[in-house]
Amino acid sequence: MKVPFGTITVTESARRRITEALDSGRLTQGRFVRELEERFAGLCGVKHAVAVSSGADALTLALAALHDRGARPGDEVIVPALSFAATGNAVLAARFKPVFVDVRRDTLNIDPDMIEAAVTERTRAIVAAHLMGKPADMDRINEIAERHGLFVVEDAAEAHGALYKGRPAGSLGRAAAFSLYAAHAVSAVEGGVITTNDEDLARILRSLRAHGRACDCAECVLSAAGEPCPRRFETEGGQDIRFHFPRIGYSSKMNELEAAVGLGCLDVYEEISARRRENIGYALSQFSRLAPHLYTIREEPWETIGPHALPIILSEKAPFGRAELARRLEENGVETRTLFESMPTQCPGFAFLGYRPGDFPEAEYLGRRGLHVGVHQDLGTRHMEHVISTLARFLETRP
Ligand SMILES: Cc1ncc(COP(=O)(O)O)c(C=O)c1O
Repeated sequence: MKVPFGTITVTESARRRITEALDSGRLTQGRFVRELEERFAGLCGVKHAVAVSSGADALTLALAALHDRGARPGDEVIVPALSFAATGNAVLAARFKPVFVDVRRDTLNIDPDMIEAAVTERTRAIVAAHLMGKPADMDRINEIAERHGLFVVEDAAEAHGALYKGRPAGSLGRAAAFSLYAAHAVSAVEGGVITTNDEDLARILRSLRAHGRACDCAECVLSAAGEPCPRRFETEGGQDIRFHFPRIGYSSKMNELEAAVGLGCLDVYEEISARRRENIGYALSQFSRLAPHLYTIREEPWETIGPHALPIILSEKAPFGRAELARRLEENGVETRTLFESMPTQCPGFAFLGYRPGDFPEAEYLGRRGLHVGVHQDLGTRHMEHVISTLARFLETRP
């Protein structure tokens, strides 16, 4: 049996929209992107969604918007030490300095008890990543942020469909960044979305994704009407407002073909979500069979884990290494991914920040001892059974 890590759903409706876009000749950001934004905002229960070209760009832009609100290059952003490298990269791409805080070994998320010690006069924001779809401790994080006047951005790349105390991921901070990459529940092949209730922030984000462009008329921003910009030469200096850039921007737009694929996923989102939930629910319910050598995350009564993937972590006493376990899974057709790295101490790209091995013991532990496998919509309970029984059989040989 094969248990691939990811999949991508390209529906008939997506194919129809792709053909329609190709026939219309309108392939860059247009009405399908706009529709995706409106429907994604609805899914998260927020007023605005801004589509961009990746989850990494979504996070970068959400942070870069702070330059419009008094932040200066080199100001600090608190991020969890354990995440996909994009979480740290985005802080640097937004011209800020990442300040890493260790995570908890049980939740995989930033340790709220350690955040406050990392706050300085230059701190501007906290990135709360919901790793493996498990919501970060948002009440604690928002409370710390409020006390220090900080902006909270959710890294919700992996948190499609997650709920925290009844509220959807994407609505839990001031802004949230989703990835629409292939392995995610709503996928546009490549893509990202920023969600927010802050209208002014949404306006800044729409400018940032288009190189920092000045004009915010519907024609320039949404490119939906296909009409020329009505304000083109109406600035005081007589510049062409379409080529006037009041802020440092990025080139991060989503195109119509990507949006067509994303809308197709939204058309069948309930089915995708239900299948993923059933898969992860089954795997979590069976995991106690694998104790004490392996553990995973727990779903608490106040939350719903966004069904992104199943983490598998070796406990301290496990008498085998991660490579051996991954090999056994792969030999049995189960594709594996590691559980990322401690960005500051295991990811060489961040070495210039000067952290030392041992600074983030929990993130480093998970970076050495964690794996994750797929729970996506093209898998079913029998695939999850196969994963669990492969692990159980492996453990029988390694008591
Ligand atoms: C936690 C996290 N943040 C950010 C990203 C970046 O998303 P993308 O690959 O769409 O740029 C990912 C990718 O999956 C992720 O897992």
